[in-house]
Parts: sequence; C-alpha cells; structure tokens
Amino acid sequence: MKYIVQPGGDLSGSLRVPGDKSISHRSIMLGAIAEGTTRVSGFLEGEDAIATMNLFRALGVRIDGPQQGIVVVHGVGLRGLRAAGRQLDCGNSGTSMRLAAGLLAGQDFDSELTGDESLCRRPMRRVAEPLGRMGARIETAAGGRPPLRIRGNPRLKGIDYAMPVASAQVKSALLLAGLYAEGETRITEPAPTRDHTERMLAAFGHPVHRQGNAVRVSPGLLKATAVAVPADISSAAFFMVGASIAPGSDVTLTGVGMNPTRTGAIDILKLMGADIAVLNERAAGGEPVADLRVRHAPLKGIAIPGRLVPLAIDEFPALFVAAANAEGETTLSGAEELRVKESDRLQVMAEGLAALGVAATATADGIRIRGGRYRGGRVESHSDHRVAMSFAMAALRASGPVEIADCANVATSFPGFVELARLAGLRIGIG
Ligand code: S3P
Repeated sequence: MKYIVQPGGDLSGSLRVPGDKSISHRSIMLGAIAEGTTRVSGFLEGEDAIATMNLFRALGVRIDGPQQGIVVVHGVGLRGLRAAGRQLDCGNSGTSMRLAAGLLAGQDFDSELTGDESLCRRPMRRVAEPLGRMGARIETAAGGRPPLRIRGNPRLKGIDYAMPVASAQVKSALLLAGLYAEGETRITEPAPTRDHTERMLAAFGHPVHRQGNAVRVSPGLLKATAVAVPADISSAAFFMVGASIAPGSDVTLTGVGMNPTRTGAIDILKLMGADIAVLNERAAGGEPVADLRVRHAPLKGIAIPGRLVPLAIDEFPALFVAAANAEGETTLSGAEELRVKESDRLQVMAEGLAALGVAATATADGIRIRGGRYRGGRVESHSDHRVAMSFAMAALRASGPVEIADCANVATSFPGFVELARLAGLRIGIG
C-alpha cells in the first residue's frame, strides 16, 4: 500500500490521535498478571498492541475487546500464565517481544517469541543477556536476533544491572522479571527513559523505588485497576510538525500524554521556534495529560541537545521533516539507537529527504539536515510506520506530489491516520 500526497495545504481543527502505544502494551501485560479484572479505556487498537493482546490470550488470559478503546483483562495472577504450546508472534512490535521476554523468563514453562522480517533484524541480546544473569536461559538466532527461545525459571535471582544503552524496553523487561525474582532487582539507566512501567506498577499497587538513575523492584503481587490511556504523543508529533511547517495551520491535539520522559519533541520543536501552547494540563491514570495547540511558525535549524535524545527517541523521523523546513542546518548526534528501530531511521530518512532534494547526510550516530525548498518525488518508507507518516507531512511544503511506498505498517501504531490527516487538511490518498 502506498500513499500519494498532493503538495500544499495546511492543518486545522481539534484532533484526538489514538491511544499511547507504550501504555497500551503495559496495560495488557500488567492486567494479565494482576489479581482481578483490569478495565482499560483509550486502548490503542493498532497492530502492535493487538499483538501483545494475542500473546497473552495464547498464554491463557481471557481478554475482552477491544471495542471502541475498551479492553477488559481478566488477570490470572503472577503464577497463572500457561504455556502457549506454540510460537508467539510479536509481528512488528519490539515492545511486545522485549517486555514479554522479561515476563516469560520467570515462568515454569518455556516459550518462543518471533516476529516479522523487520523485528527479526532487531537486537535482542540487550534483554537476553541480563535475563540470563537472573537465571533464565534465552537462546537467540545468529547475531542475537529473534526468534527468542526462553527457558523459564520460576526461581530467578534479582540482579544489580547497569544498562549499557538507554532503553525503556530493557528496563521494563528487567522490572517485570524482577517481580518473579528472589531479592531485589536494581537497574541503573545511562539516561532517563520513559517510565510508564514504573508508574503503572505503582497504580497496580506495587511501587518501584527510584533513586537518581536507578530503579529497584521486589517480588510481589499486583492488584487490578482501571487504566485510562492518553493519546499518544508520538502520534501527535506528526501533526505538531505538519502544523508547524505549513503556513495558516492551527491544530489542537486533545488529551495528549505529557509524561516528562516523552516530551522531548516539544522541547526540540520549541527550540526551533515552533508555536506550541500546552493547555488544560491535568492527570489521568497516573500520567499527565494536556491539549496542545500548534500554529505555524518559521523554524530555524539547531544542534539538538543530547539530553533530549532519549526523550524524543520515536519522534526523530518527524523532527527531521521539521528540520528540512527550517532555516539553516540542524544537527543530531548521540542517536545511534535510531539505526535499530523499525528501520535504520538515520539512513532511511536521509535517503528519503535526499530523494526530495533536501541536503541530508546520515552520520554514524546522527544526521545533518540543511533546510530549504524541496520537490515532490518517490520515497521508500522501508515498511517503517513513522517514516511513512513523516513523509506524508513533508508533502505540505513540497513543490510536487510525494509518493510513499510500503505504508501498510502505519496500522501498527496509528489506525485511521489517513482519515484523520485528511480531516485536518492533508491532501493524502491511498494508491
Ligand atoms: C518503548 C521504548 C522505546 C521506543 C519504543 C517503545 C517502550 O524503545 O522506541 O517505540 O514502550 O518501552 P527502546 O527501549 O528500544 O528505546
């Protein structure tokens, strides 16, 4: 499936993007191993979160829905999961695989996790190695890639682990394994990463202790609760960038999750000169939420501060489109993690921007982009949902139509993207 986006136009109106992907995954996982029934609202009905749902159904958990964002998870308790008896398919979803690996490490049965072509290229040693230290045996394919064969060990041991990469997925996998481990599990992160697992464990009655860059968890029971999932700031980011670059734009994105470990893209856009007003700040289900009003503003190129990289890690494809529309050069470094996302986002974005005539060069750990006018053309998304949506927004300022190949995976994180973008004013069609 490809997108064909006609050039020009602007974005306007009040929009609600779908539910947060990270929080949706966690609501299923924690709900599954809790005592009692967890009701989730605002659940992301995208393929990634559905993959997690199907994983836990295969592990013996009754889950009703999703129906209009409502999911009911009938928790089986910490020791209630059952062997699936077949390979578990995570599809395109790294979060499903890495977090489930942590949970399955502490079971008294074995499991096998696999995924699609993109996921089977992604590194898994980062979870296999520390889970091995806790006492699970995890075999990977060559190069530490999926599939993962997990020999569960119901008597894991807590470890004190300093993560070499800033990864919320690794941290979360170890926190989940820590629920099953003897003693305390302590994880130190090199830089702050999203803390949804910590917040949600607290909401399920099992607090995680934080001290500086370290988090500690002990074994314990979870109690079912209600989870209200905010709109995903990572999905809102496409509209923030689109509205910022297209003259005449004025959009309000409602109910967006504003967890401070996720708001790096707002900080970066504001440094570039974007006009983003944060309105109606409130709390929902242990997470801060706000409405974001974004109006067009002239952007300027910047050197992106390194401390913001983990706080905007999924938003860089969209931010690179903002950079292509800024005056002067934008540079990013310290972001080598972008090479192991759903695609190599440094290379794929640099190539796509270059195809439109933007001066963009990938470096080992970042990118350099010189903003200016650009033309239409054909861009490869490499089946990466965020690359596809970013280039759709780029068309707002192109001088000709932008054709984007391989867009089916947009459904992993943003069902209804085309309809919502069209409603806002993007001239997007499906080819
Ligand atoms: C996620 C963590 C991040 C992010 C991914 C979702 C999560 O991955 O890129 O989309 O839900 O924990 P890393 O932990 O690999 O940085």
